[in-house]
Amino acid sequence: MTVDAVRVELGARAYEVRIGPGLIARAGAEIAPLLRRPKLAILTDETVAGLHLAPFQAALAEAGIASSALALPAGEATKGWEQFSRAVEWLLEEKVERRDVVVALGGGVIGDLAGFAAAVLRRGVRFVQVPTTLLAQVDSSVGGKTGINTAQGKNLVGAFHQPSLVLADIGVLETLPARDFLAGYGEVVKYGLLGDADFFEWLEGAAPRLASDPEARQRAVRRSVEMKAEIVARDETEEGDRALLNLGHTFCHALEKATGYSDRLLHGEGVAIGCALAFELSQHMGLCPQEAPSRLRAHLRAMGMKVDLRDIPGDLPDAEGLLRLMAQDKKVVDGKLRFILARGIGAAFVAEDVPGDLVRRILQEALATR
Ligand SMILES: NC(=O)c1ccc[n+]([C@@H]2O[C@H](COP(=O)([O-])OP(=O)(O)OC[C@H]3O[C@@H](n4cnc5c(N)ncnc54)[C@H](O)[C@@H]3O)[C@@H](O)[C@H]2O)c1
Ligand SMILES: [Zn+2]
Repeated sequence: MTVDAVRVELGARAYEVRIGPGLIARAGAEIAPLLRRPKLAILTDETVAGLHLAPFQAALAEAGIASSALALPAGEATKGWEQFSRAVEWLLEEKVERRDVVVALGGGVIGDLAGFAAAVLRRGVRFVQVPTTLLAQVDSSVGGKTGINTAQGKNLVGAFHQPSLVLADIGVLETLPARDFLAGYGEVVKYGLLGDADFFEWLEGAAPRLASDPEARQRAVRRSVEMKAEIVARDETEEGDRALLNLGHTFCHALEKATGYSDRLLHGEGVAIGCALAFELSQHMGLCPQEAPSRLRAHLRAMGMKVDLRDIPGDLPDAEGLLRLMAQDKKVVDGKLRFILARGIGAAFVAEDVPGDLVRRILQEALATR
């Protein structure tokens, strides 16, 4: 198997996402051309460190690159001020200079935190993403959104800071727990749904073997990254089309808030449920045929994923409560909401004026089946 390279075309800030097996083992040779001196600082989490840090550092050493690493606790709670300032101060103690490179080795939590640290350290140093979850490989490592959570909410503090290189080693996904793998798959299926019906159709056949078949996995990651790269190149700072990547996310964010960002619902699980609801809504608005939401649900079911609100354990707010979470701060509960809707599988678009009433009805129906 060879390595695929997808370019994110952003002019002076363009970079490559390399996708394939064995990239960790070759990391030294891959990263060396970026370095002004043979030294790297690595941010990672404790779980990833236990599994993949030693081979990564050995690969760097093979290319004559010295490295030091800081392993933060695993989990979303790390993505806050406390661990962020710890990371920034550690980078300063390590004497990372303006022309050096920081590495993020881990999932989206580490990628977002390390990317933000790199964005502000000495007013901005370069960084390399080495994503180790499916979600991070197909989504969070590409596109330059970095940041942390605060008491007020998720991702409220951050910066656009593009990496200089992304190394997505599809082999590292073999140590990922099945639930995290499937949650990441929620974002993969999103790409098919939002813009590539052929990809969705391919996934219907191939997705059940992604965890065990490296070639299929590589193709799924590559196609997802191609789509994200293309959208980001068109609209880096989300003035327009980049919003398409939020398919399913308005519903998802409300459900994540309602479940307290706990392991009752992982982000990618919420995305899958949210996509199903977005297609349901589109169908109710007469925008897409009933076949589309039915086909999507059948696929998610076949994958053993959460599909409906009833698949979320524990209590949920009523439709009104969920709608309020969705519209939070926007004062649009009785007015119109902005949603990503679809005219069919592979045909999403941004709709500015979705009636709140209709969304409430979709939620009521979804809750009624609980
Ligand atoms: N920046 C963006 O554009 C963007 C996009 C989507 C999501 N995100 C962010 O990404 C975060 C979620 O990312 P995530 O799902 O990768 O979570 P994560 O980073 O918490 O990783 C999930 C779990 O898997 C473990 N893990 C990681 N790699 C592993 C491996 N190879 N083997 C075994 N265990 C491994 C981690 O230690 C963690 O416990 C959220 O904070 C979200 O806001 C950002
Ligand atoms: Zn997402």
